Amino acid sequence: MSTSIPYVNLSHRQHPQREQMLQAVAGVLDSGQFILGEETERFEQEFAVFCGARYAVGLNSGTDALILALRCLGIGPGDEVITAPNSYLASASCIALAGAVPKFADVRDDLNLDPEAVARAITPRTRAIIPVHLTGKPAAMKELSALAQERGVELIEDAAQAVGAALHGKPVGSLSRIGCFSLHPLKNLNACGDGGMLVTDDESVWQRARLLRNHGQPSRNDCLEFSMVSRLDSIQAAILRVKLRHLEAITASRRANAERYRLRLAACRRLQCPVDGPGEFCVYHTFVVQADKRDELVQYLQTQGIGTAIHYPVPIHLMTVGRRLGHREGDFPVCERLAGRILSLPIYSELSGQQIDAVAQAILDFYKTN
Ligand SMILES: Cc1ncc(COP(=O)(O)O)c(C=O)c1O
Repeated sequence: MSTSIPYVNLSHRQHPQREQMLQAVAGVLDSGQFILGEETERFEQEFAVFCGARYAVGLNSGTDALILALRCLGIGPGDEVITAPNSYLASASCIALAGAVPKFADVRDDLNLDPEAVARAITPRTRAIIPVHLTGKPAAMKELSALAQERGVELIEDAAQAVGAALHGKPVGSLSRIGCFSLHPLKNLNACGDGGMLVTDDESVWQRARLLRNHGQPSRNDCLEFSMVSRLDSIQAAILRVKLRHLEAITASRRANAERYRLRLAACRRLQCPVDGPGEFCVYHTFVVQADKRDELVQYLQTQGIGTAIHYPVPIHLMTVGRRLGHREGDFPVCERLAGRILSLPIYSELSGQQIDAVAQAILDFYKTN
């Protein structure tokens, strides 16, 4: 059967801001300023305000934001950095790409880093912790900040999936020294190509990130240190400026979709829906349920024309790169148990109430006979 409720739909054919975006792109084409420039600077300022931070630096990707965050803090060879093993690969690869060693700590049932496991993973070589606000849910920042302070290590947020989320009213990205965002097409605030953002209140980090995104060149004829090139395109910035104005509405509709799933599935004991924890404002980049017989459920939903995804089926420590670091099955039991149960349901803002009801009904039907 052809999919009638796809997991995602990235076409902009019927995007409500299509005309505004086309106009914004035309403005950039006419300006002839394609890299950084006025549009990027304006977007950086608007994004910083949105995140409650003083500064923002537009980059090529969320991965680059994480690499640059580590480099800005002088973290590299000989250092260890702790992150979550159930995240997208980039949360760990950024550490290796900065020259340091990725270390993992187990997560809690809500998919985010367990501060007690992080405390156990800290060694004399640990220089930083990178909590991931996975699925758009804030990590346990209060406990992790206290831990980082007590043990003298840096805290960098991987907020790639969490733009707009907040903890006790404070936006993610501004809950640590540096916040890193992805603007990838799949994200809640999404470019039509790659993009990323680093935010900080620290002026020296801001200056250094701007230098390191541009070959380490403060001016045309000098280079202070060799570096990469990672700059946000003006066309992407222009599109993102339009979308940022509508992000709160998009978040509200994702949250309403989440609530509708929770209501429809409340009676189902075989599947748990995610909820906002105390003080959390989650943005549901993904709506990850924990399901009995997960793989059979995926198959069944597929036959009903319902698309789903798994974020992520293989934890990073069990990929070839993780095994090369010495890891094996059993190292992070909560993460590994969850990997077999997690399932992402469609959650995008364009979904209708009837579509959500249809997904929920299909799930209830499956568990009636399974
Ligand atoms: C948790 C997390 N970290 C980092 C990244 C990397 O972002 P990008 O794809 O923009 O490099 C992603 C993107 O998928 C992500 O989900």
